[in-house]
Amino acid sequence: MSENGVNKARRNFLLGATSVVGAAGVVGVAVPFVGSWNPSAKALAAGAPIKVDVGKLAPGDMLGPIPSWRSKPIFVVYRTDEMLETLDESTDRLADPNSQDDQQPPYATNPTRSIKAEILVLVGICTHLGCSPKYRPAIEPKEFDPNWLGGFYCPCHGSKFDMAGRVYSGVPAPSNLEVPPHYYETDSVIVIGEDKETA
Ligand code: FES
Repeated sequence: MSENGVNKARRNFLLGATSVVGAAGVVGVAVPFVGSWNPSAKALAAGAPIKVDVGKLAPGDMLGPIPSWRSKPIFVVYRTDEMLETLDESTDRLADPNSQDDQQPPYATNPTRSIKAEILVLVGICTHLGCSPKYRPAIEPKEFDPNWLGGFYCPCHGSKFDMAGRVYSGVPAPSNLEVPPHYYETDSVIVIGEDKETA
């Protein structure tokens, strides 16, 4: 998906999230639920897990329309090998490169902050004041960072996160983007909102 496509998806999310229908309504439309598993809107609003299928996600893309869990946008990104290589390059510019803060489950406390190296699952909420960062995957100079290696940029106050959602040093956001509880039900279907052992 292009950055424009991503922006469009995010705009759709924001429009939905601010409507009276609320995020549960957005989920009902946006998330490719699988099979007959389809929790009610009431259950979703109460925080029920959601399922997403990443089987058709192309390398480099973020799943769109952006799904929602507990009224929060969820970023699901299929990282390329090149993106994964940037994780080593960015560490000396990060505030918490080894994920010491409690911002992810134990199974995502690793260099890629994920279960499968290529698939990143994040809560798309900036840890500063709660804006939703923008997906900026291209490795190219940006107006906010001439040495940008790809990642997520929060335009509200300029926080930057790398391709694992790790926060840069010297920005307003105090911690890495959160990794929600999740597990793989099949090779391509991810349950987001609960851990496997509690499912
Ligand atoms: S809310 Fe993201 S930088 Fe302030």
